[in-house]
Amino acid sequence: MKIDQCKIIDLPKINDPRGNLTFIEGSRHVPFDVKRVFYLYDVPGGADRGGHALKKCYQFLIAMSGSFDVILKDGRQEKRVHLNRSYHGLLLPPMIWREMDNFSSGSVCLALASELYDPTDYYRDYPEYLKAVGVTA
Ligand code: TYD
Repeated sequence: MKIDQCKIIDLPKINDPRGNLTFIEGSRHVPFDVKRVFYLYDVPGGADRGGHALKKCYQFLIAMSGSFDVILKDGRQEKRVHLNRSYHGLLLPPMIWREMDNFSSGSVCLALASELYDPTDYYRDYPEYLKAVGVTA
């Protein structure tokens, strides 16, 4: 997988003076059936999250509130993506290394996942990940 395959997807936004609404349908707005949802919140200033790649799980990240950065690596290229809109999501295919930082105060990161949580689906060691993608450090 290459960083170019990580895409910002525009979600539907129903503007309403009573408050805006966005919805996500599995296999329509995201290219997988959603099996799991989790969220990061109460992230202290200066904290880093992520620091892993997934072997087969797709994820879709949204800044539901506030903002944060996602650093993407594929072993060859690196890119920093700033998420700050609740109607934009970042699609992360498997085998992309991701780190998250620069969380604004009160921010919430929602993650949709194509698989149930499975600790064996993770690379948490960067050199091991590089080896898996055929890059010698
Ligand atoms: P971790 O993957 O380290 O969080 P992040 O990469 O976002 O910094 O997960 C933190 C802990 O939560 C770890 O013990 C595994 C657990 N966890 C689950 O039990 N289920 C889940 O769906 C997720 C994402 C994590």
